[in-house]
Amino acid sequence: MKEAQHTTHQKVYDSIAQLPPYLKELLDVAIEQLEYAYAPYSKFHVGAAVLLEDQTVFPGSNQENASYPLCMCGERVALYNAAANKPGVVIKSLAITAKNLLKKLDQPVSPCGACRQVIHEYEIKQKSPIEIILKGDLPQVYYFNSSKVLLPFGFDSSFLH
Ligand code: THU
Repeated sequence: MKEAQHTTHQKVYDSIAQLPPYLKELLDVAIEQLEYAYAPYSKFHVGAAVLLEDQTVFPGSNQENASYPLCMCGERVALYNAAANKPGVVIKSLAITAKNLLKKLDQPVSPCGACRQVIHEYEIKQKSPIEIILKGDLPQVYYFNSSKVLLPFGFDSSFLH
């Protein structure tokens, strides 16, 4: 079956105060999550939060390992947390923020390619877009209404069968 078509768009909010209340609350959870990151190697803390259509929120933070390739991004911890606990419920929004203990972040954290691919997978699975908000140390918040903005021409199961 073909995925429903939707228009992609993005915008920049000047500050958290301008966000719709539900996104502000979600970003607040992501910011809280910075404290829960386990990032002794990179000193780069990532906090994330997923909002489901039934209004449940699932948090996540990056979790590192002395065996570096095993490190897991905060976005994926939050997404897998949500998907594993409420597999049939649509994911509406994902908030991501980061704090680098070694320097100031002059732009919002940019989700890595692997995380973009994972967001894309869930969009295909649920046949609806996931909105994404990003924040760094500056007040601005970047908004994307779908992973398609961040991952154009993404790979999906339609290539397999
Ligand atoms: N990291 C994330 O959690 N999300 C991203 O999108 C980029 C990178 C984490 C992984 C690792 O713990 C640290 O940031 C440095 O790469």
